[in-house]
Amino acid sequence: MTGVVTMEDIRSVAVIGAGTMGSGIAQVAAFHGFSTILVDLDQAMLDRGIQSISKSLDQLVNRGKIDPEEKRVVQDRISVTTSIKTLAGVDLVIEAVAERLDVKAKIFAELETIVSDSCIFASNTSSISITAIGSNLKLPARLAGLHFFNPAPVMKLVEVVAGLATDTQVVDTLVRLATSWGKIAVRAKSSPGFIVNRVARPFYGEGLRMLEEAQLGAEMIDAIMRACGGFKMGPLQLTDLIGQDINYSVTETVFKSYYQDPKFTPSLSQQELLNAGWLGRKSGRGFYDYSAETQPEPEFDHIRFGGHFQIQDVVESDLISSLVDRIRDHRIAIPKLSKGDEGVIRFSLGAELVITNGQTTIERNRGREIPGCVQMDYALDYRAADAVSISVHPELTEEAWVEVYAFFDFLGIRSCRIKDLPGLIVLRTVVMLINEACDALHHGVASAKDIDLAMRYGVNYPLGPFEWANRIGVRRVAECVERLNMFYPTGRYRLSPALRMQAEIDQPFEIE
Ligand SMILES: NC(=O)c1ccc[n+]([C@@H]2O[C@H](COP(=O)([O-])OP(=O)(O)OC[C@H]3O[C@@H](n4cnc5c(N)ncnc54)[C@H](O)[C@@H]3O)[C@@H](O)[C@H]2O)c1
Repeated sequence: MTGVVTMEDIRSVAVIGAGTMGSGIAQVAAFHGFSTILVDLDQAMLDRGIQSISKSLDQLVNRGKIDPEEKRVVQDRISVTTSIKTLAGVDLVIEAVAERLDVKAKIFAELETIVSDSCIFASNTSSISITAIGSNLKLPARLAGLHFFNPAPVMKLVEVVAGLATDTQVVDTLVRLATSWGKIAVRAKSSPGFIVNRVARPFYGEGLRMLEEAQLGAEMIDAIMRACGGFKMGPLQLTDLIGQDINYSVTETVFKSYYQDPKFTPSLSQQELLNAGWLGRKSGRGFYDYSAETQPEPEFDHIRFGGHFQIQDVVESDLISSLVDRIRDHRIAIPKLSKGDEGVIRFSLGAELVITNGQTTIERNRGREIPGCVQMDYALDYRAADAVSISVHPELTEEAWVEVYAFFDFLGIRSCRIKDLPGLIVLRTVVMLINEACDALHHGVASAKDIDLAMRYGVNYPLGPFEWANRIGVRRVAECVERLNMFYPTGRYRLSPALRMQAEIDQPFEIE
């Protein structure tokens, strides 16, 4: 397609829909110097949109980021209208109305009769196919997805989504424009969930399954994911924040869109929350009760035991080197230290502490004379972790496993013994995020680099999935997924072909 404007030619922007997203996007465009028209059917929504922009700019003034004069200049760049007929001269239209294909398609069809052929069309849809939205346009090549995250002025990520007919020049222009607006812009192919809403599914899904299977409280799962996994929020508290209804419906949409792929099967326990009307923060109750003054603290096991421990020897591998550093920092004696592929800390009374590998502890110990295996969860950084989940072989003597508790206690790491489930809490989630990221890569949804950026800036993960895979070791990740798949032969844990192929050559993913 020719004739579409380049970034330098874009001077005026229209945003259609003055709700949560539209008003935020209008603020971003105006803040970066663009003359912006905010459009809504409803004058009251326009008034509310302008008010919310004013409040959001006030916060910037209060934090000293802009002065009151700058706020006025930004606001002056925004005009409002209830009629799209006035948009004839705009260079870019960003649509952020209700999530309905018919509504969106109708707006763009009408716009085509108003604006010039060079005007770019963008939709902020989070789940509708860009190809479908553009299918009845005369110039479908001019339409792309421009998926901002909520709140748009704060969240760094924007997914620029190409439908089948989208011109690459339109994508290039939108990527450059979003970047100039201070965003991290990633390219994605139009497919259900794009990048973030697809790759993030296991984060919630595995948290919900651990809740069901391990019979642990939400507060324990969330605490381990934060304190050991390095996530800013645990999966269950995050679903409370997003809204259980919204989170459930995104999962359900992705599940249906991928023809009931078991990878995305929604959770019955989340559906029960919906049945109860426990939608999370907005309804005052979800996994947590927000009417309570404080949230319950998870009950860890470590201090109950305390006491004495003695390390017999340590095999240091790259995965446990940060734990070995912590042992050294605490001046704990290591009588014998060697290096190996699989890290082990052996204690004097027979416990052997290893990082979970996706097997159950019983399986992992099979064939050995002493039932010494204690598996611990995979920490993003054992020097910083202050909690860990562990799984203990059921035949290990109490005096032997108490040594492990005492060890963690001495290091200042709270420990929680959980049911013998493969992959424990963090590793199981992280490998499934990596596996889904690999599937998205395999299907050409986005590059590994863009998927990593999307997950770091769209949902604030401490690392991108490919960076994580490289850190853990691609082959180890693949082995862990395969073991989960053997334990749960439902298809949910099947290995992504991209992960299988990378594990076969045993090379890190290219993410630079
Ligand atoms: N809310 C989020 O967290 C979020 C995040 C990313 C993307 N999105 C997507 O952004 C879009 C908007 O979501 P929202 O949460 O801002 O919705 P919202 O309900 O807050 O706002 C939608 C606005 O569109 C207006 N509108 C409806 N039909 C219109 C029409 N024909 N012409 C002009 N205005 C019209 C409504 O009056 C309303 O003000 C949806 O596609 C949604 O999927 C939402």
